[in-house]
Formats: sequence, structure tokens, C-alpha cells
Amino acid sequence: MTARDWFEKAQKENFAIGAFNVDNLEIFKGIITAAKNKNSPVMVEFSPGEAGYFGLKNLVDMVVNAREEYKIPILLNLDHSKTVQDCRAAIAQPGFDDVHFDGSHLDVEENIKGAKEVVALAHAKGIIVEGELDKLGGSSEVHDEEIDEAVLRQSYSDPKRALRFVSESGIDIFAAVFGNIHGTFPTQPDLDIALLTQIKGALPDTFLSLHGGSGIPAVQVQSAIKAGIVKVNINTELRIAYRDALVEKLGENPKEYKIYSFSEEIAMAVSAVVENKIEVFGSSGKA
Ligand code: 13P
Repeated sequence: MTARDWFEKAQKENFAIGAFNVDNLEIFKGIITAAKNKNSPVMVEFSPGEAGYFGLKNLVDMVVNAREEYKIPILLNLDHSKTVQDCRAAIAQPGFDDVHFDGSHLDVEENIKGAKEVVALAHAKGIIVEGELDKLGGSSEVHDEEIDEAVLRQSYSDPKRALRFVSESGIDIFAAVFGNIHGTFPTQPDLDIALLTQIKGALPDTFLSLHGGSGIPAVQVQSAIKAGIVKVNINTELRIAYRDALVEKLGENPKEYKIYSFSEEIAMAVSAVVENKIEVFGSSGKA
């Protein structure tokens, strides 16, 4: 099944596929172990920083090997790529299912132009493209500051603008902004499900993604899935699980230098978070 087939299935059967960012090998193992345990399709994704750390060829090999070894559907996505050139490099590799061209920093005409170029390159290889029009704020970290909701609201997606962007660019997945923000915050804003419903109404044939999935209460994520979200991106909560487990292990074993002896346990701490997300997203047993 292709990524398009998977998202169509998700749409029809009312679940979402988790798109989990990969910082390192423990997080990767945590994600795919959880997907295997839950018999769930899963997407692994690499931001420019994460992809730069692994190297494109290495990460593709790692994912291709895991597909064979774990025998579950592992989709591969380039997350938040800001340039056509970076998307082109991923598309040229065998193994990618999806590329996210994030032109939200560009003016709308430039964004459409770039997205269109990526769509032409990607579709020629059966790869789907995610586009982003409205800049999703925050960063995948633990934030101490409160969110100014009035400011955040200014970046929410507008259904009419979204329709124009999607029609002119030809993208397959639209990154909707409706109260979601990257990272975790002391107070998380509520998702605007009414707005999401309007966006889906304007884009009935386009897949919708929910970025900034960390820290959003499960019931709200499930309402968003009911309203049309088929892809939920999670990064910060995996980083927290990884870091906390690593710090704990180092604290308990101050004389241990063979750090990989903790790696399995650290990966399992990440895996527990991913298993919980898979349950929330309803993708358990769908592989
Ligand atoms: P979080 O860090 O909030 O989980 O967001 C991740 C994301 O949207 C990656 O594209």
C-alpha cells in the first residue's frame, strides 16, 4: 500500500497515522517497536536538522532495513523542508513516501510556486506532498512561557485561502493550523474544531495533518480525527521520554561508560509514549 492508500484508509475508517520525529537510534527503535507491538502503520519523519544529523542515505537504509525486519508499514517523510532543493534530494532517494514542503515563511505566490515544483517531482515518483501555508508557531521543545492566544489566532488557517493554496499547488496533505503549536506549554490552547470542520468542508479531497501534536489532550486529538485529521505529528513528547530516561539511567549508574547497555530501556521508554499515541489515534490493529 502507498502512503496515499494508507491515508485514504485512515480517512474512511476514522483513524490517524502517527508521524513521529526521529532524533536518534533509540527514538527510532522506540517508534517501530511500538508500531510492531500495536500492529499499527506508522510514519517516521526527519526534520532538516534530524535528517542532517543522520544523513539522507543512512536514514533511508535504516528505514528500509526496519521495514524488512519488523514487517509493518513504515512510511517515511521529510518533515518541514524549507527548500525545493532539500525536497528534491529526498525524492531522489529510494524509500521516501511523503515530503513536506514548508513554504510558510514565503509569500503565498512563492509558496505555491515551490510547492507546485515539489509536487511535479514527487508525483512522478509516486510520492505525496504535504504543504503548509500558515506558519505553525513554537518549536519542538518544553516551553516555560505562556502562549498569547490572541497572537496565535492570527496564524490560524483560513478555509478560502487554504482552498486556493491547495488547488493551485496540487499538494496532497494540508498542514492545518487551528490551535496547534509545536512543543509543550504550561497551558495548551484548545483546538478550534469548528474551524477544522470548515477547513475540511473547503478541502474534502485533501488529507489534513495536525502538527504540534505534543501536549494536546487525547480527547481533543480524537475530536480532530473525527473532523478529518489523518496524520498527527509528534516530536517533543518523544524527546522528553528519551531525555528523562537517559538522565535517570546516567544518575543510577554513575560509573557506567558502556552507554548502549541502557539504550534498550531508553528506547522502551519512548516506545511506551508511542504505544499510547497509537491507541489515541485509533491506528492500533490497522497494519
Ligand atoms: P510537537 O513537537 O509539538 O510534537 O510537534 C511535532 C511536529 O509537528 C513535527 O512536524
